[in-house]
Amino acid sequence: MLVTGAAGGIGREVAALFAGSGADLVLADLDADALEELAVGLRNGTGRVLTVQYDGGDPRSAERLVSEAVGEFGGIDVLVPAAGIYPEKAVADMTDDEWQRVISVNLNGVFTLINRSIPHLCPGAAIVNFASVAGHRGSRLHAHYAASKAGIIALTRSLAMELGPDVRVNAVSPGTIMTPMVRDLVADRGDALLSNTPLARNGEPREIAAVVAFLASNAASYITGETLHVNGGLFMAG
Ligand SMILES: NC(=O)c1ccc[n+]([C@@H]2O[C@H](COP(=O)([O-])OP(=O)(O)OC[C@H]3O[C@@H](n4cnc5c(N)ncnc54)[C@H](O)[C@@H]3O)[C@@H](O)[C@H]2O)c1
Repeated sequence: MLVTGAAGGIGREVAALFAGSGADLVLADLDADALEELAVGLRNGTGRVLTVQYDGGDPRSAERLVSEAVGEFGGIDVLVPAAGIYPEKAVADMTDDEWQRVISVNLNGVFTLINRSIPHLCPGAAIVNFASVAGHRGSRLHAHYAASKAGIIALTRSLAMELGPDVRVNAVSPGTIMTPMVRDLVADRGDALLSNTPLARNGEPREIAAVVAFLASNAASYITGETLHVNGGLFMAG
């Protein structure tokens, strides 16, 4: 399996869960040091671990990543593009570069990675993308992020139509999950978000990893083009 954003809060839980079931792992992230640190712990498992420094905003980096993964393992059975950024800025103050960077990493980066991977996907492969509640509802001060995630939902559906029946393509759409990405959000608006969350707590990264593993597994063999909400009820009630 190949996961990007592997050194992040959710990516590392996805990596650990798959490592626990003996999977070979390709771990990709912009942060090479964090990636190496993560890999040290995971190399005790039965599967092999390849780490690749990767910039989701650079198509050549996606090409290198796919080429290294295929060189090592021959193909890709599970692809999880989880790398993402979540900067805060009002549209009125946003520069073109700020808009482009978020779209480039969160949406274009997913396109280029999947595009370069398609010739190497194993029969029966699964892709699990990352959307967000913001992609369904919009997000004040994160319009670029929300737009990128709405794009992921449409990309997921379109790919499911193009890549079936051999490959399933789904997305997970997290609410507020306790990772470095939402540290500021939780500090600023955590109480308001919780008051609109029926399960009355934020999510843990392992609760997203479990859904990624489900969508990638045979248990989800008749699910494709779907975006699965995992938000403690916030999307419904908030
Ligand atoms: N945490 C949440 O509440 C939440 C909610 C909705 C969606 N998501 C989505 O889940 C995914 C994982 O988020 P997370 O919470 O683990 O975030 P995180 O900030 O903990 O991790 C993100 C990882 O992506 C890496 N990264 C950043 N820019 C990169 C680039 N250009 N190229 C490669 N790697 C890059 C970072 O180094 C980091 O390791 C993201 O796609 C995010 O948008 C998260």
